[in-house]
Amino acid sequence: MKLMVIGGGGREHAIIKKLKENPSVEVIYALPGNGGIAADAKCVNIAATDIEGIVAFAAAEKIDFAVVTPDDPLVLGAVDALEAAGIPCFGPEKKAAIIEGSKAFSKDLMRRYNIPTAQYEVFTDRAAALSYLESCDLPIVIKADGLALGKGVIIAQSREEARSAIDTMMVDKKFGHSGERVVIEEFLTGPEVSVLSFTDGETLVPMVSSMDHKRAHDGDAGPNTGGMGTVAPNPYYTPEMAARCMEEIFLPTIRAMKAEGRTFRGCLYFGLMLTPKGPKVIEYNCRFGDPETQVVLPLLESDLLTVMMACRNGTLAGTEVKFSADAACCVVMASDGYPGSYEKGHEITVDGDFDAQLYIAGAKEKDGKLLTSGGRVLGVVATAPALKDAVARAYKQVEKVHFANAYYRRDIGRRALERE
Ligand code: AMP
Ligand code: GLY
Repeated sequence: MKLMVIGGGGREHAIIKKLKENPSVEVIYALPGNGGIAADAKCVNIAATDIEGIVAFAAAEKIDFAVVTPDDPLVLGAVDALEAAGIPCFGPEKKAAIIEGSKAFSKDLMRRYNIPTAQYEVFTDRAAALSYLESCDLPIVIKADGLALGKGVIIAQSREEARSAIDTMMVDKKFGHSGERVVIEEFLTGPEVSVLSFTDGETLVPMVSSMDHKRAHDGDAGPNTGGMGTVAPNPYYTPEMAARCMEEIFLPTIRAMKAEGRTFRGCLYFGLMLTPKGPKVIEYNCRFGDPETQVVLPLLESDLLTVMMACRNGTLAGTEVKFSADAACCVVMASDGYPGSYEKGHEITVDGDFDAQLYIAGAKEKDGKLLTSGGRVLGVVATAPALKDAVARAYKQVEKVHFANAYYRRDIGRRALERE
């Protein structure tokens, strides 16, 4: 089979490596991929958002199955365009991807179908938003409605900070159209859990849970990033909690989407907060998480391609989806300065006795060398029967990966281990 994966980060590298385990896979094209993914797939220089270019390539190469991974092509309708051209796809159609593409949509969905989430109001009028702020408790959370590269959420500690967040979104238009509408919501507390799931719209199978580490520095300090590391499973997410989330959140969500005529097929990501009043949805994503995927997929024992095709074909109920009982840890190695400005173009080298998974996120190939080209450069992933050993192994292997100005957190998994 000829496969195509849209995207070019560490998450896509993990997906490609897993897909390759199926012996019927002859070739995988990555659009655009990256210099590290090039070791496992044929990279084609077509941007993930160039839907016309993607469809033309898929038709010319007679692609048998496509996986659309990032949020923006999904929200733009890449799956609809590929399916219309006769290319079967893993991923939600545009009308279902709105569950991530518009926070106002997802909040209203949860309100109408009694799915637990933070109290909120939606505003398109600045004056009304500012006036609402006066009566809110602090801290208060301000979110841009649309996609904002994970940067559209501001937790304001004071009313002044909240007002300035509103103006950043609605007046300065820092997030473009995404900030024309804002959600103002109640601040929740509790441990966060990421649960990715496979769904064909009827059946939903949760993957092993995980814990992201979003802040740049140790001790969860510093600015928010795309994710500096992950562990799986998440020890806060007990079997009792999993059963409760299935009944109160996961199944109600896919049923609500179906009832709205927006049947969701693909990977539905639940960003949950386990509050003192029970689990609540912080956010939905219409795709695999990054870097959650890097710890979840190495624990998948079933064939990923088979499961993805079952999601597309509506046969997930009869398909085995099995995870190992092991634990996994991903340490992201970034360019120092990220998420602010950072240097690029440093050579990446890996010692010969490196013994873990290496998923490349931001690197390009030049004259046979791998050079850094992004903020998050790569993820080092180790698995072991116990989380503490997975964490120790990942950090041991990190020492065998070298590039100038490398930066990584030293405490990935610490909170999870304290909980254990
Ligand atoms: P998001 O971009 O939606 O993933 O939000 C980024 C982060 O902001 C989340 O991972 C949470 O840590 C935090 N956050 C979002 N919404 C809330 C909320 N209502 N209460 C507390 N923290 C929140
Ligand atoms: N790791 C969070 C996300 O993928 O949105």
